[in-house]
Amino acid sequence: VKDGYGVKGLVDSGISEVPERYIQPLEERINKQESRVCDVAPIDLSKLKGAEHEKVVDEIVRAAETLGFFQVVNHGVPLELLESLKDAAHAFFSLPPEKKLVYCIPPKIKYATSFAPEKEKVLEWKDFIYMMYSSDEDALQYWPNQCKEVVLKYLKLTSEMVRGIVEILIGKLGVESDDSKIEGLVGLKKVNLNYYPACPNPELTVGAGRHSDIGTVTVLLQDGIGGLYVKVEDDNDAAKGEWLEIPPIPGALVINIGDTLEILSNGRYKSAEHRVRATSSQARVSVPMFAMPTPTERIGPLPQVVIKDGLARYREVLFFDYMNNFFGNALAGKKSLEFAKKNNN
Ligand code: SIN
Ligand code: FE2
Repeated sequence: VKDGYGVKGLVDSGISEVPERYIQPLEERINKQESRVCDVAPIDLSKLKGAEHEKVVDEIVRAAETLGFFQVVNHGVPLELLESLKDAAHAFFSLPPEKKLVYCIPPKIKYATSFAPEKEKVLEWKDFIYMMYSSDEDALQYWPNQCKEVVLKYLKLTSEMVRGIVEILIGKLGVESDDSKIEGLVGLKKVNLNYYPACPNPELTVGAGRHSDIGTVTVLLQDGIGGLYVKVEDDNDAAKGEWLEIPPIPGALVINIGDTLEILSNGRYKSAEHRVRATSSQARVSVPMFAMPTPTERIGPLPQVVIKDGLARYREVLFFDYMNNFFGNALAGKKSLEFAKKNNN
């Protein structure tokens, strides 16, 4: 946020139309009327503990293999905490610019606007703050008062859920995993508060550009406004190529598979391309928790899977390098995955 004001500052200054640098080329604009809403029921994670364990495991695996996105309920994160998180996000972004700008100590924490403003032709209609987790002490010292306690609780509870999901997904690849293997895949954790101000010309802009997430699994809390779209990639789906909206479901969390799991599974699990529409009525907030491999982890297709598939679709890369490649470029759909493509040295 060069001037410290971000998109919210622009809106607060009373603009009646979006400035030129936020106007997307036609092919990037999102047509709400033309898109369908995903009607898949959320998965009840509490049933993992009962007689329906295998059925729920299959639902998770199937979702990871097809859309790469699903929603969960009874996920272990109290609903009051989810409400407090959304309130905390609004409280943080309501602060005056000079109070937000102090949270700019990368790589620990960073308040910013758009994804990579200096690399982008067109900016996103979005402000955000990221909080990288290293220890509770650091979090309590460096994260904003408006949100540190709820964000820390959210990070812990969602981490537990993510471990369970990753264990299931790795297990279904026929690979035995132990605690340290799973920890290596989810050891780096980051929470964002995303803020998409109400936009005077939502049809000309985008809230978040097309991208896939680079980590292992992302857990996302979205509010009731809507606007998250996912591209159907499944070859067996008649809707392949279409963008589906992931609707807000009260109390549910959205889970999506990241590039790391697509690479590990040699393409079986889908790290889906997604994006966010801007809206005209009210500001939207969302709170993703990114569970990523520790930077020193080498990620590549699991040998057991490669043997079965007869070929490796990706090469092995250091997650540190993968991350630097992603954050060093503007968002461009699934381009991030090309960094790990076989023919790319
Ligand atoms: C993102 O994936 O970048 C944000 C998702 C959202 O805000 O719903
Ligand atoms: Fe994302």
